[in-house]
Amino acid sequence: MRRGSIIQLTAIGLVAGAICTAVALAIPWLPVSAGEEAHRIHFVYWFVTVICICVFSVVVAVLVYSVWKFRAGPDDDSDGPPTHGNTQLEIVWTAIPAVLVTAISIVSAIVLAQNGHAGTNPLIVKVDARQFAWNFTYPNGKSVGYLTLPAGRHVKLDITSEDVIHSFWVPQLSQKQDAVPGQHNSLVITPTRKGTYPVICTELCGLGHALMRSHVDVVSPARYAAWVKQSASASTGAPGLAVFSGAGCAGCHTFKPANATGKVGPDLDNLAQLAKQANRGSLEAFIKESIVTPKAYIAPGFPDAMPPGFGTSIPPDKLQQLVQYLAKGPSQ
Ligand code: CUA
Repeated sequence: MRRGSIIQLTAIGLVAGAICTAVALAIPWLPVSAGEEAHRIHFVYWFVTVICICVFSVVVAVLVYSVWKFRAGPDDDSDGPPTHGNTQLEIVWTAIPAVLVTAISIVSAIVLAQNGHAGTNPLIVKVDARQFAWNFTYPNGKSVGYLTLPAGRHVKLDITSEDVIHSFWVPQLSQKQDAVPGQHNSLVITPTRKGTYPVICTELCGLGHALMRSHVDVVSPARYAAWVKQSASASTGAPGLAVFSGAGCAGCHTFKPANATGKVGPDLDNLAQLAKQANRGSLEAFIKESIVTPKAYIAPGFPDAMPPGFGTSIPPDKLQQLVQYLAKGPSQ
């Protein structure tokens, strides 16, 4: 091959590589990385991307050079010279990809192993998924609808579901894990960057799937310690509110006293009016029926989305607290 051809090939490859690199760097493809595991996953992503850009540049250089240099003239109907392969070239284009793919496997395996490692003293938080809400239980027994985590500490999530399959995902923390009924899956996250990030259900789980959101507050260890204390003492508040949060009502319903803003089911601030419309006995009887046998009456304009199991999953005394809490209305 002449020296001029090599320079031309190299130039085309460099231009293709530069364009690709610009596209890779100019667009924010990934969310900010807010945890150790996310840093590692982003590293694998960029490792693979760099390899891809190199391979792409070589292919584009050869392709463009061939189209440009070996194009047949307008009147040239002749066949090209017969070729019978090139052993040297075939060995090269088999060996290089084999090395690259092996390198990607090794890097991925190391990252996968490290990302599953929770260290010796992880904070263990139980995660309960249900249609359509998340519930997080801390070591001191405090159960809340959103996560608060200290920056810099390994957190081991013990994830399960009470009904169908859901999946826990915080894009900024990268790790994902399915919530499967009757099974406990664990997921390690180590938040390092303070801030508030969304918790998303990433497994289609029913009508309210798209709204099955919560959030995680990553705070300093000192603020976390204060939050644990404060939330532990706050757990003695309105008993109905605890049932409301624990059952995940906020995932689908709006109710001002609970700061709930769900939009799948009817707005519970208007329960008195809804009960009148439904005309199915007293307000409390109507609320109880709607929780225990939701199919008995579906408010006009709303989907039949209320899970049917609350009559058994909420004990009778808690159910009574919840009914009273809701019956008191929005101004409590
Ligand atoms: Cu739960 Cu989608």
